[in-house]
Amino acid sequence: MPPLLELKKVTKIYGGGFLNKDNQTIAVNKASFTIEEDQPKIVTIAGESGSGKTTMTRMLLGSITPTYGEMFYRGKDFRKLSRRERRQFQLEVQPIFQDPFESYNPFYKVDHVLHAPIKNFKLASSKDDRDRMVVEALHMVGLQPDETLGRFPHQLSGGQRQRIMVARALLLKPRVILADEPVSMVDASLRATILDSIQTLNKELGITIIYITHDLTTAFQISDTILIMYRGNVVEHGDVERVIHNPQHAYTQLLIDSIPQPDPDHRWGELVRATGTDMVGTGKQRDIFGIEPGIDVEYDEVEPNHWVLRSDVAMNGQTPAGSSAEPAVPAGS
Ligand SMILES: Nc1ncnc2c1ncn2[C@@H]1O[C@H](COP(=O)(O)OP(=O)(O)O)[C@@H](O)[C@H]1O
Ligand SMILES: [Mg+2]
Repeated sequence: MPPLLELKKVTKIYGGGFLNKDNQTIAVNKASFTIEEDQPKIVTIAGESGSGKTTMTRMLLGSITPTYGEMFYRGKDFRKLSRRERRQFQLEVQPIFQDPFESYNPFYKVDHVLHAPIKNFKLASSKDDRDRMVVEALHMVGLQPDETLGRFPHQLSGGQRQRIMVARALLLKPRVILADEPVSMVDASLRATILDSIQTLNKELGITIIYITHDLTTAFQISDTILIMYRGNVVEHGDVERVIHNPQHAYTQLLIDSIPQPDPDHRWGELVRATGTDMVGTGKQRDIFGIEPGIDVEYDEVEPNHWVLRSDVAMNGQTPAGSSAEPAVPAGS
């Protein structure tokens, strides 16, 4: 059986144009990625701000088209999907958690939020049928219909609102759920609730979860597989235990060295700025990690299910020859 979704060396370039090549941003560079339906996993795409995570997500959702490369849905070229196949794809691959607060019009009741996708995709044959689906979805996420239906979003707790968003996605019976930075703006208890529901969706409903984050700690807690992105490139990927315990790419090593920071405000961005690299893929220079915009990508399998971007200058923890750049640890750590 072909994979549910397969990306082969997809690249997304923003801006530029043929008269203005200097203003191009290579947001994602030749990324490959496969989602198998028969082994539903939690896959983390990790990287700091600007590394290309959201661009990758939007390509996986079909909401933007890669500039180069190929994408297949159930073995079929994405560009050649029929209307019916594309609709099937939109049901099977669902985003959730994005701006859980802003995605509600405050004047709509919860009912409206849940009815909209049913109406959009013509999923119900009658009002009774629709109401049955809504109640079933609410129960799946542990919500009581009489405590949620008929209410406005502001009458619910943050945790309840978040569960409504999950229920909304579940109405469509997705096989893949993409969650782009679902916990970056929430407090610790809601974060635990969200991470818990991600795991439930995966373990109990067999849904593949693509979890996008800049936080390696939660990635390690919940995911099976991880992709580390740096300036649009997947620099290392594979089994999360192996990647985190035995990081091979200098950039991954730098990130992992920075995890046990007791300071919660410590962000990767500050760390990498301390190395003197610009994070946007427009610079023409190779940086200390051997990355230059649009580089060709090849991976070495360093151990089973653990791949690292091949690079002449930054492998196995060796700093590039002639470089004075120690992978820097920021002041105060
Ligand atoms: N619509 C856009 N137009 C131009 N540049 C963009 C656009 N979206 C993202 N970029 C650029 O692409 C790069 C990757 O962005 P993004 O995918 O949002 O990264 P992340 O989600 O990891 O923060 C960044 O340099 C960003 O500025
Ligand atoms: Mg993003």
